[in-house]
Amino acid sequence: MSTSYLAHFGFSSAPFSKEIPDDKLWLPSSKVSLIDEVCEALKDRESVLLTGEPGVGKTCVLRAIRQRLPQAGFKLTYCHNATLGRRDFYRQLCFALGLSPSATAAAVFWAVSQHVEELGRERCHPVFLLDEAHLLHQDVLDHLHILLNYQWDSKALLSLVLVGLPDLGARLAMRRNRSLASRLARYVAIGKLTPDDTAEYIRKRLELVGCEKEVFTSDAVAMLHEGADGAHRDLDRLATLALREAARRKKKLVERDVVSRVTAAEEAEAA
Ligand SMILES: Nc1ncnc2c1ncn2[C@@H]1O[C@H](COP(=O)(O)OP(=O)(O)OP(=O)(O)O)[C@@H](O)[C@H]1O
Ligand SMILES: [Mg+2]
Repeated sequence: MSTSYLAHFGFSSAPFSKEIPDDKLWLPSSKVSLIDEVCEALKDRESVLLTGEPGVGKTCVLRAIRQRLPQAGFKLTYCHNATLGRRDFYRQLCFALGLSPSATAAAVFWAVSQHVEELGRERCHPVFLLDEAHLLHQDVLDHLHILLNYQWDSKALLSLVLVGLPDLGARLAMRRNRSLASRLARYVAIGKLTPDDTAEYIRKRLELVGCEKEVFTSDAVAMLHEGADGAHRDLDRLATLALREAARRKKKLVERDVVSRVTAAEEAEAA
C-alpha cells in the first residue's frame, strides 16, 4: 500500500494505523468509565464479560486496562486463539503462563490451577483475558467455571475477562452456561462511536502524527461516521482511503466528494 500520502499531508506516520502505543490510546470519558469499572472488578477479584460489535475497540480497551492496573499484584495473561478444544485450550494457557504443558487434559488443567494457587500464595492476582471468546468451543465454556473453583469454591484466586462480540452475551444467557454466567460479576458493553466521538477521535489521531490543522471537512467527517457505522476499525480504513484519494487528487483538504468516492468504491467491491 502506498504511503506517499504521508509526505503529501506532512504526517510523521500513518495516522490511522493499528500500531498505536498503549499510552496514546484515545480514551474519552465514556471509555475511561468502563475501563475503571473493569479495573475495579479485577481489584475486587471478580470476573467480567466485555462485549461489543467488531472493531469498536474491545482489544484496545484491554490494552488500556493493562496500562492502568498496578504492575505489582496482578499477572495478566492474554489468550486470543479461542478456536481450540478443551485440552488444547488449557495447553495454550500453559504456554502463555510459561508452564510446560503435560499430555492429558487432567494434567494440563491441574498445572494451570496449581499455578493460580501458587500466585495466590505470592499475593499476585492472575487475570486471564480471553479475547474472541464468542468463538470458544462449548466444551471450554462448560468447563471454565471449574477453573474458577479453588479450595472448595471458597477463594477468589483468579479473574476471567471474557471478551467478544455481543453474541457471547447471548450464549452466556443460555441455560447450559448458567454456572459460568452466574460467576461473571460485571457485564460491560462497549458501544459504537457517536458522531461527536468520531470527530474527536479523528482529531486526536491526527494530532499524534503532528497534524493540528483541519484535514477533513465536517461534512467529510459526517460521511466517514456513517460509512464506518461507529466502528473504529472501519473508520480507520475509510479515513486512510480518503487521505490517499485526496493526495492522489493533490488536495490538502478531504471533502465530502472524496469520502463519497471511497465509500462508493467499497460498496461496489462488496456487491
Ligand atoms: N481507544 C482507542 N484509541 C485509538 N485507537 C483505537 C481505540 N480503539 C480502537 N482503536 C482503533 O481501532 C482498531 C480496532 O480496535 P480493536 O482491535 O480494539 O477492536 P475490537 O473491538 O477488538 O475488534 P474485533 O471485534 O474485530 O476484535 C484498532 O486497531 C485501533 O486502530
Ligand atoms: Mg479484538
